[in-house]
Amino acid sequence: MARLLLLLLGAGVAVIAGIPPHEDVARVARFVAHECDWGALATLSAQEPPMRGLPFANAFSVSDGPAGACGSGVPYMYLTRLEVSVQDLQVNANASLTLSLAQTPYCKKKGYDPQSPLCAHVIFSGIVVEVNGTEADVAKEALFSRHPEMATWPPDHNWFFAKLNITKIWVLDYFGGIKTVTPQDYFKARPYN
Ligand SMILES: *[C@@H]1O[C@H](CO)[C@@H](O)[C@H](O)[C@H]1NC(C)=O
Ligand SMILES: *[C@@H]1O[C@H](CO)[C@@H](O)[C@H](O)[C@H]1NC(C)=O
Ligand SMILES: *[C@@H]1O[C@H](CO)[C@@H](O)[C@H](O)[C@H]1NC(C)=O
Repeated sequence: MARLLLLLLGAGVAVIAGIPPHEDVARVARFVAHECDWGALATLSAQEPPMRGLPFANAFSVSDGPAGACGSGVPYMYLTRLEVSVQDLQVNANASLTLSLAQTPYCKKKGYDPQSPLCAHVIFSGIVVEVNGTEADVAKEALFSRHPEMATWPPDHNWFFAKLNITKIWVLDYFGGIKTVTPQDYFKARPYN
């Protein structure tokens, strides 16, 4: 009990300007989605057996919009079919993307272990789809503004823009277990005041 109180007090004084209150779960999810520049994308492997069909998590740069703005909540990616996880997606486009404030200075500054629920993290699942037309322009601005090196990646790799079409969202942002947010609530939420 004493330990729990201490933890609660600790969390109380540790509130960071910027992150929405933990009970505003959809807003926290949008905050994490905008703050993170990269995440772990899990696919179902299309490699040779015995790997085939098994989970395979790999790091990808993401952006839901230029830094300093509110973000769209849509995790955009810049992909090439030469990439091993993208080859998985061509067989089965279902994927799960994890974004964590451990990928920003926030948790280290607060002294939160990446596995602590106080170090807010979000797990999305859905299907990775290529985007084109005006949405590709949006994706390009979102990604290239935050990952300037992308503009120099070898053109012969046939890069394309994609997004995770989110169907399910789980949030760990406090004690008491994982919470879910519907995509509707997520896309309606305002991450910043
Ligand atoms: C996603 O997974 C479901 C269930 O296994 C499967 O039926 C569906 O074809 C997959 N979708 C895509 C786009 O790969
Ligand atoms: C845009 O992408 C979709 C698949 O996401 C594809 O069906 C469609 O043909 C593409 N349109 C153009 C103009 O490339
Ligand atoms: C994205 O997901 C929504 C449901 O959340 C679905 O209606 C839509 O068809 C999906 N789009 C693609 C391109 O898979």
